[in-house]
Amino acid sequence: MNMNEIIIKKRNGGKLTEEEIRWFVSEYTAGNIPDYQASALLMAIYFSKMDEEETFALTDAMRTSGDVVDLSAIKGIKVDKHSTGGVGDKVTLVVGPLAAACGVPIAKMSGRGLGFTGGTVDKLESIPGFKTTLEPEEFYKQVEDIGIAIIGQSGHIAPADKKLYALRDVTGTIENLSLISSSIMSKKLAAGSDAIILDVKCGKGAFMENQEKAEELAARMCKIGNAAGKRTVAVITDMNQPLGRAVGNSLEVFEAYDTLKGQGPADITEISLHIAGIMIYLGGKADTPEEGAAKAKEAMETGTALAKFRELVVAQGGSLEMFDYHDASGSVPVADYQEELIADRDGYIASIDAQMIGLCSQRTGAGRKVKEDDIDPFAGVLLFKKVGDEVKKGDRLAMFYSSEEKKLKDTVLEAGGKENGAEGEAFVISAKKPEIPALIKTTIGL
Ligand code: URA
Repeated sequence: MNMNEIIIKKRNGGKLTEEEIRWFVSEYTAGNIPDYQASALLMAIYFSKMDEEETFALTDAMRTSGDVVDLSAIKGIKVDKHSTGGVGDKVTLVVGPLAAACGVPIAKMSGRGLGFTGGTVDKLESIPGFKTTLEPEEFYKQVEDIGIAIIGQSGHIAPADKKLYALRDVTGTIENLSLISSSIMSKKLAAGSDAIILDVKCGKGAFMENQEKAEELAARMCKIGNAAGKRTVAVITDMNQPLGRAVGNSLEVFEAYDTLKGQGPADITEISLHIAGIMIYLGGKADTPEEGAAKAKEAMETGTALAKFRELVVAQGGSLEMFDYHDASGSVPVADYQEELIADRDGYIASIDAQMIGLCSQRTGAGRKVKEDDIDPFAGVLLFKKVGDEVKKGDRLAMFYSSEEKKLKDTVLEAGGKENGAEGEAFVISAKKPEIPALIKTTIGL
């Protein structure tokens, strides 16, 4: 095979064969193809696109480039969940225990966050003692014993994607449907579950800015998953404002905990019951997604889901002390310094810029700029107002927490907090009550 000929073929709009795609993926992963040639091919794919067959071949080549997890030793239908990422998205921490409490085995590998906020693994690591690395045997045994385990994704899952994603990131070749869908699905298919639910976010704080694009991506990923023999369903959900009220690792863990208690924000509760309902259905523990959602609600109301979360924490070495303190006092641990953002007029919250809140949260220390950065588990942002809420001049809109006082002041100024109080740029206040967009737009693949 000749890399130059493959690049020219794709540049001229040709269709690559499965052999050519496999050869490229394995040779690039092995370090035998230079970045400049791989970049040229990615750019040719970006402009000339790939059809379904090529996309499937690319997904499969990346899936098999490293470890493919075998979960067959664990009884039952294992269901995995993936989110394309959003600000304040702690849904995995809620739906995992909900589905597990209803009998669906959850053997989950999650990522760390690069960008605005931490990933699920960073959030769990804000619990003192919580181990996110388990030996494979310990991982399987824990799922067998208590029905749930959540660990960090090993570096050996789809290493080809890791290398190609890093290259795409710096060559302007991220935004291509075939490249995105094959990247996400190669990792999901290698992670070994029998069924997959994808939460594809759309809106200002998301990868896909509009619903049409999000639906197109979701449909592609469902096709790839189903063609690989895994039942795959996608929900398209709104990300025009942060999800819930907490953004930041420990803050989000406590919001998830409260949601499991039935005391979470309305949006987190709604999306979690919807997704958990589908997981319970896909896992064969309900005849319909609606019945699944009813079972999830019951698990929330009876306390079995909260008990499952606490069991998960203990099984992975975490301490329940801060949760017990929270139950007794209602307070949550936060970083040393805090600064509030105040409304400068009466009105209604017309919008909250999810992207800006995400960026501010990162600046407080809750997210990474580069992958070597440490995360401050107790930094972040708490929102007191959401879109549609009425505000009076002087009301608190949000509180920012950080361990570094200077960082905090700059961050609040960035978000729009002025010396004497202002509504800020992150929050827009209007005289008229705005329309609130639907949280769950549509479900694909049921
Ligand atoms: N997330 C991924 O894992 N891959 C992409 O290409 C985009 C988002």
